[in-house]
Amino acid sequence: MRASYEVWRDRKGRLSPLRIGVLACLLFPVGLAVWTWYSEGLGARPLNDLIHRTGYWALIFLLVSLAVTPFRRIGRYWQIADVRRMIGVGAFCYVATHLTLYIADQSFDLWKVTTEIAFRLYLTIGFVAWLGFATLAATSTDAMVKRLGGKTWRRVHQLSYGIALLALIHYFQQTKADVSVPTLTAGLFGWLMGYRFLIWWWRREGELSPLELAALTIVVCALTFLAETLGIALVFNAPPFAVLSTALDFSADIRPGWYVLGAGFAVVVLDLVRAWQRKPVSKVARKPVQA
Ligand code: HEM
Repeated sequence: MRASYEVWRDRKGRLSPLRIGVLACLLFPVGLAVWTWYSEGLGARPLNDLIHRTGYWALIFLLVSLAVTPFRRIGRYWQIADVRRMIGVGAFCYVATHLTLYIADQSFDLWKVTTEIAFRLYLTIGFVAWLGFATLAATSTDAMVKRLGGKTWRRVHQLSYGIALLALIHYFQQTKADVSVPTLTAGLFGWLMGYRFLIWWWRREGELSPLELAALTIVVCALTFLAETLGIALVFNAPPFAVLSTALDFSADIRPGWYVLGAGFAVVVLDLVRAWQRKPVSKVARKPVQA
């Protein structure tokens, strides 16, 4: 048996290198913030800097937790299901800190916090996402899984897609100038959603072929370019074709769509390599996708 705080041990109480590695990744942003604070400081508004950092990493870890199932199925890394909950709870710790820092930034004036959340749309959306996140965290214990039953639990945890979508909207709304990173994050989320949708709609019992994964990647890449082009054209009142040709010009800058294409093809290569290594698509992969 292991104590509940011993997250570096597996269910049998053995030290787990996978869990230790994931814990190190989850703590990396804390180390980075401490290092930046020590070496160059956190800028004129340290609390605001930390609000940005915690929000950003909460979203990244949420997306990583959503990527666990596709990565596990495509890469045939069955053992990584063991760290999905850990990553999700880690993401919640960041988002809980995000809200706490925001309250601290408002000098703990709870009336001001409430009215700001009620009247500023990006904060209202963030708050709804936060409530969803808290629901997921509260239902993440073994006892809750037992109490709700596997089917209901999985349904509740499908909320994570909606939460990620709201968090992305919140991210876009508060970004003032360069939307490259939010666009890239949205593109990667789009790929994950597309993958889930195809498995659900098309091949409930099976896995997507490398060709289908490549087609999904190309479609999501095209949509990422399209969304970025339309966004820039609308905001800056620029001709869309000129914006698109600049975006496609690899020598000018590598735009988010290219990164989405690269990440998607890395997944295709992983699939091919694992198939070549004769890693079977085990029976687990043929079960309906779990959240
Ligand atoms: C009550 C809930 C929330 C509040 C009050 C809140 C508040 C804030 C504030 C004040 C900012 C900085 C805005 C600025 O400086 O102009 C911010 C940024 C951000 N928040 Fe939230 N937020 C909430 C929920 C969330 C949730 C649930 C997520 C994600 C899971 C999230 C992700 C982000 C991200 C990604 C940023 C931008 C980070 C960056 O600039 O790199 N927030 N939020």
